[in-house]
Amino acid sequence: MIKIHEANRQLWNNMAADWEKRLNRDGLWHRCHKEPELAFEGGTLDTIREMVGTLRNKQVCVIGSGDNMAAYALAGLGARVTSTDISEERLKLAADRAKVLDVSIDFVRSDAACLESLADSSFDLVCSTNGFFVWIADLSGVFCEVSRILKSGGAYIFYDIHPFMRPWKDQVMPIEMEKPYWETGPFQESADGSYVFNWTLADLLNPLAQAGLIVKKILESPARDSDFWRGSNDASETDESLLDWRANPRAGLPVWLTVAALIS
Ligand SMILES: C[S@@+](CC[C@H](N)C(=O)[O-])C[C@H]1O[C@@H](n2cnc3c(N)ncnc32)[C@H](O)[C@@H]1O
Repeated sequence: MIKIHEANRQLWNNMAADWEKRLNRDGLWHRCHKEPELAFEGGTLDTIREMVGTLRNKQVCVIGSGDNMAAYALAGLGARVTSTDISEERLKLAADRAKVLDVSIDFVRSDAACLESLADSSFDLVCSTNGFFVWIADLSGVFCEVSRILKSGGAYIFYDIHPFMRPWKDQVMPIEMEKPYWETGPFQESADGSYVFNWTLADLLNPLAQAGLIVKKILESPARDSDFWRGSNDASETDESLLDWRANPRAGLPVWLTVAALIS
């Protein structure tokens, strides 16, 4: 077990209940098995449909599944979903919600860099979503495991925060750099030994290619609604001007990175 990943597991176990309350407030998880577009940003769901075709009866694995919105959405589309996360506490909450939604999902606790309980060549699609890579010390380990569990011709499709979002202070105006793009961490998240990383585009794509995954499509997209920027603005009400780069210069950069890759 990678030491940083183990520390991050503890952090997520400790945070799971609070995180769940926050998501409960949003209430989106109730809807995404019926409205799958709620679970994917940046054109990712269209890309999944384009690359994989119908999801019905496809074997799908979500890694670092967290809130499991993607897992519920894909299960709602008829896929046979395995949801993996390093945190058993997050998985327990996700399994309770799956019962409420009446969707069938296999939940497997696993470090994404060591998916040992999942068989070689067993999935048509592997997905990861928003805010996953920041927790990963061993990208190469993750992409090699993704590559191993994909069937020949299978797809790995992720969307995550675009690396160009990372160097800035979290404020709307003035735009201010917090650190250089190339300063990737590890950054200590809390005193308990957990760490996060701000990987560059090259950091993400080179180990992916080295794991034998062939990139077929890359999308770079803006936030689709202004709530994305709410944290930076401290505003309690929706402010559509935050989507305009003149009012909020970071809105002139891509917020989401979507990558679709195939295994040969
Ligand atoms: C911010 S969430 C991102 C996932 C999802 N999009 C969400 O918003 O809940 C990060 C998730 O990654 C999981 N995680 C962190 N490190 C991991 C690892 N090495 N392997 C698998 N999951 C990991 C955490 O437990 C957490 O549930």
